[in-house]
Amino acid sequence: MGSAGSGMGEREPEYDEAAIRFLEALWGEGYLSPGGSAEVDRVLMGLALKGRTVLDFGCGAGGISLHIARTYDPAGVVGYDVEQPVVDRARAAAAAAGLASVVQFVASPPGRLPFNDDSFDLVFSKDAMIHVADKEWLFGELYRVLKPGGRLAASDWLIAHDGEPSDDMKAYVAAEGLSFGMASPRRYLAAMTAAGFVDASAENRNAWYREVARGELERLRGSLYAEAAAAVGEAYVEKNIRTWAAMQKVLDSGEHCPTHLRGSKPNGRAP
Ligand SMILES: C[S@@+](CC[C@H](N)C(=O)[O-])C[C@H]1O[C@@H](n2cnc3c(N)ncnc32)[C@H](O)[C@@H]1O
Repeated sequence: MGSAGSGMGEREPEYDEAAIRFLEALWGEGYLSPGGSAEVDRVLMGLALKGRTVLDFGCGAGGISLHIARTYDPAGVVGYDVEQPVVDRARAAAAAAGLASVVQFVASPPGRLPFNDDSFDLVFSKDAMIHVADKEWLFGELYRVLKPGGRLAASDWLIAHDGEPSDDMKAYVAAEGLSFGMASPRRYLAAMTAAGFVDASAENRNAWYREVARGELERLRGSLYAEAAAAVGEAYVEKNIRTWAAMQKVLDSGEHCPTHLRGSKPNGRAP
């Protein structure tokens, strides 16, 4: 998010070295989305992960997978992403932290996930599902790799409605220049339910992020400018200041709604 131009192989990575450096300067080491570990803990609130297996779908540079490994005492975390630079960065961070035996990172092209059915107790994802336009396929695939009785706990960037995006939203998505496939809470919940998830729920986080984003823009223009420019160059920072200004409009209107999502895969036993 923020930054430039998914997938491994033929296409150039969207989250390349410059994007990683820029987003880490803004959001913290290993984080390519806002809110840091506190927001991750909020997504995971109330879930017991000790001894459990976790998939971090769209793990990016690995900060979240490492935070989960350090904080929740899981049996193992697998971070999955479709882009090589972020996975390389994540693997190096896991090795440096001495966590390579608990956290593994897997890169493979978009499409069927390289995991067997019924593999994980928890599927976590933070602000990555936006890159998969086919939500019905996505939730079917996440359901497939969850064990019976497993949980989905995620955050993502949604659009508030199913209609034509406003001109402001079109301008914001164009400014990002990323492969966004945004959909409404209604579509997410329908896709989750169609996949088989029960107790599917969505919590709108617009009120939180619209204020956090305002602070991010202020820092980009002020206290963070020199550090970010030293990391990626002034033109790159200026482009992102324009992107953040465009994003603030659709956060303030409520059309852009970061959202927390929960769902469960039934355990198959009779109630
Ligand atoms: C905004 S970043 C978030 C990364 C990480 N979850 C975090 O919060 O720091 C979005 C991530 O989704 C990944 N992504 C893009 N398309 C994907 C796909 N089809 N399947 C899984 N991940 C994808 C990107 O490579 C990127 O690492």
